[in-house]
Amino acid sequence: MKAIVVTDQDAGLAGMKLVELPEPPAAINDVIVQVYAGSITGDELSWPSTWTDRADRDRTPSIPGHEMAGVVTVLGYGTTGLSVGQRVFGLQDWYRNGSLAEYVSIEARNLAPLPDDIDFNDGSALVMPGLTAWQGLFLHGRLQSGQRVLVHGAAGIVGSMAVQLAREAGAYVIGTGRAAHREAALRFGANEFVDLDNDTLEDIDQVDLVFDVLGGDIAMRSLGVIRAGGTFVTVAGPIEAQPAGVLTIDFVVEADRAQLSEIARRFREGRLRANISNIVTLDDAVAEYNSTNRVKGKTIVRVRP
Ligand SMILES: NC(=O)c1ccc[n+]([C@@H]2O[C@H](COP(=O)([O-])OP(=O)(O)OC[C@H]3O[C@@H](n4cnc5c(N)ncnc54)[C@H](OP(=O)(O)O)[C@@H]3O)[C@@H](O)[C@H]2O)c1
Repeated sequence: MKAIVVTDQDAGLAGMKLVELPEPPAAINDVIVQVYAGSITGDELSWPSTWTDRADRDRTPSIPGHEMAGVVTVLGYGTTGLSVGQRVFGLQDWYRNGSLAEYVSIEARNLAPLPDDIDFNDGSALVMPGLTAWQGLFLHGRLQSGQRVLVHGAAGIVGSMAVQLAREAGAYVIGTGRAAHREAALRFGANEFVDLDNDTLEDIDQVDLVFDVLGGDIAMRSLGVIRAGGTFVTVAGPIEAQPAGVLTIDFVVEADRAQLSEIARRFREGRLRANISNIVTLDDAVAEYNSTNRVKGKTIVRVRP
């Protein structure tokens, strides 16, 4: 099969190569998915799990891409819940080969059925931001209708999904970002926008929840706008402060079939949009990821037309 691999941890995106590899085998409870669309997350080549297995052994050449949509072609021994020929989408384990390939071997429980009226590109684009936003807002952030939530990076890949889901759940949403992101954040449904370069974060009225994707100084400053008893949730790694009266949670997104199905349902009902910047073929993906004119946002790799 054709696959994009990385072998050199220091090379970054420039180290990506399109090669021929054997198709992967299906282990117990796995399925083989013929990938139609996949994608990487911007900084995944810096994650240790891209380079080693769970026992910290080198696993290169490794295939990046944890988000995918495609069709099940093989069931591993004992696999239940999915069938051959079924359209699926889901999130690959961090330590396994990913979706920038024609075939991927993945645990069935990491996948959900992809309804016929959602195309593979949209399906793939919903996975990582959809699950991350869902878990940050509702599982860890316990967001309720009527609450106020501050969403950092509101026009970005994860942030735009968090804005939509939070608004849809009846929250009052304050999005943040750069000046140029205002229109996009409001279009995704933010009630207000804070331009982090020109407005003062500390001026906003208190919120019940901060959903952070930026970390650093912005994350630290936003602790001050959370009401007593409120929550700070981040996907940008642990923060150093432990503010009194505020619950702080950093988490890594997990695959979840039921949540993926909820996300798909909202998409089909027009309540949620995917945030795709461009779509490239597998043959063109290495050049696109290394292009100096690369479009910001989510690039979907259309592995199979
Ligand atoms: N822990 C997890 O499970 C998990 C899951 C998913 C993602 N993540 C992480 O979450 C982060 C965001 O991912 P993403 O895919 O949503 O990226 P993204 O699309 O680049 O979103 C970040 C957004 O914030 C903006 N931004 C960045 N720095 C800013 C600043 N100083 N002031 C104002 N706006 C700023 C970006 O604008 P520009 O594009 O102009 O910089 C962009 O719109 C990444 O680090 C990713 O690895 C973690």
